[in-house]
Amino acid sequence: MLKWSKRRAHQFFYLALFSLFVLFSLLHNQSASRLHGGMQKEDSATRSSFPTYLTTNSSIHKSSRVLGDSEWAKACGSSRSYKRKLRRSTRYQQPRRNRQEKCDIFAGRWVYDTVSYPLYDEGGCPYMSDQLACTKHGRPDVEYQRMRWQPHGCNLKRWNGSDMLEKLRDKRLMFVGDSLNRGQWISMVCLLQSMLPSGKKSMSPNAPLTIFTAEEYNATVEFYWAPLIVESNSDDPVNHRLDYRIIRPNSLFKHASQWKNADILVFNSYLWWRSGPKIKLLWNADDEICEEADGLDAMALALETWADWISSSVNPLKQRVFFVTMSPTHLWSREWNPGTEGNCFKEKSPINIESYWGSGSDLSTMKMVDSILSKVDYRVTVLNITQLSEYRKDGHPSIYRKFWETFSPQQLENPASYADCIHWCLPGVPDVWNELLFNLL
Ligand SMILES: *[C@@H]1O[C@H](CO)[C@@H](O)[C@H](O)[C@H]1NC(C)=O
Ligand SMILES: *[C@@H]1O[C@H](CO)[C@@H](O)[C@H](O)[C@H]1NC(C)=O
Ligand SMILES: *[C@@H]1O[C@H](CO)[C@@H](O)[C@H](O)[C@H]1NC(C)=O
Ligand SMILES: *[C@@H]1O[C@H](CO)[C@@H](O)[C@H](O)[C@H]1NC(C)=O
Ligand SMILES: *[C@@H]1O[C@H](CO)[C@@H](O)[C@H](O)[C@H]1NC(C)=O
Repeated sequence: MLKWSKRRAHQFFYLALFSLFVLFSLLHNQSASRLHGGMQKEDSATRSSFPTYLTTNSSIHKSSRVLGDSEWAKACGSSRSYKRKLRRSTRYQQPRRNRQEKCDIFAGRWVYDTVSYPLYDEGGCPYMSDQLACTKHGRPDVEYQRMRWQPHGCNLKRWNGSDMLEKLRDKRLMFVGDSLNRGQWISMVCLLQSMLPSGKKSMSPNAPLTIFTAEEYNATVEFYWAPLIVESNSDDPVNHRLDYRIIRPNSLFKHASQWKNADILVFNSYLWWRSGPKIKLLWNADDEICEEADGLDAMALALETWADWISSSVNPLKQRVFFVTMSPTHLWSREWNPGTEGNCFKEKSPINIESYWGSGSDLSTMKMVDSILSKVDYRVTVLNITQLSEYRKDGHPSIYRKFWETFSPQQLENPASYADCIHWCLPGVPDVWNELLFNLL
């Protein structure tokens, strides 16, 4: 008995370490996932059109000083533990009720639909990422690509690429966040690109801000890397460490100057707060001593700053802002199939337990996010993808993606040990997140 539970604990540790490693390596090594496409759209030309100041009277940092790499490297020589201050985040409010909404499009079930799905062909999208192209990397089953989300109380408007492009005419749609949000961005680009003739679409080189352009529509679909929302030492999409995170909890200047003029903003943030050691808080650029907070407190601080920015800087008549809730992980098969010791590896069908909720979706985080979103109320539309994605244990790449690291013979013998149960295959679940976005625009 003792031996067994020891082995189990060991396995637990091993799997946790590996999931972290997979997440990290994927987040870490974006240089390798360069996107193809018409290469040289001058980035600086796009950038110079951004005003370089941010006006606000909120708690957001007044200073516009942006830290350089060497300053980040020197920051937080020592630190003390963070005591949650009496900020508003300490008094979590009840989530607001769905007022007069007729139908909750986020409550429903998955149904097989081999007629309309997948919405595009994996190999036919030149902007596909090798980290998400599961069929290309040997995934034998395809049912995961053929599922439609069916809300309980109504039907979704079917995806229509030309309607979506019309909605985007003369606009900038920008996704801001981490690699999960990048997946949703790639999904959106793949959903749209087949509608556009070659030569009339292009992708800028991979950078903190990467831009897909649909020329005939004068529209862009952009991705901005900001995994912790506020400024941090993780803002380089290639060169960062998940195990040593420093954030400036009240500084958004650098990031907001990139995203403030977008017409439609889609934010996400979650997994980067969930793993690794405590997060260091650098309140002022010149502080020698930092504070250290756990992920939940640090995320609350960052989202409060973000919410202040939304309240003071977004014009709801001209801009739309979305927040994508937690993307679930499927790291422990015992949660949906008691007695088993695996993860999402070899899962081929969704979980069909109504309201299934796994440990990867943290309830305290959800409450905190609910509370902060209730303060920005009508200014932000929630893409509440957590529950619907919880069902999709079959949607992850598991071992069918490009990995950058090499595996030992022991790992190769036990594929579940390196399976990616965090990101999502494309075509797949993020396409449905985008269909929901399409329905809400
Ligand atoms: C990152 O990708 C590059 C290019 O594919 C590769 O040479 C390098 O070893 C990778 N680094 C890590 C840490 O995986
Ligand atoms: C998409 O919408 C346009 C009109 O907005 C319509 O003409 C077209 O048939 C629709 N396409 C599909 C596949 O439904
Ligand atoms: C293209 O869209 C931008 C807004 O994103 C707008 O300012 C500009 O006038 C548009 N250009 C044309 C030629 O319509
Ligand atoms: C900013 O200041 C103005 C005037 O002082 C006030 O009306 C507004 O509510 C303030 N905005 C925020 C977000 O505090
Ligand atoms: C998202 O949906 C869950 C139920 O699946 C709910 O508990 C939560 O409050 C919702 N969050 C937001 C921000 O609407």
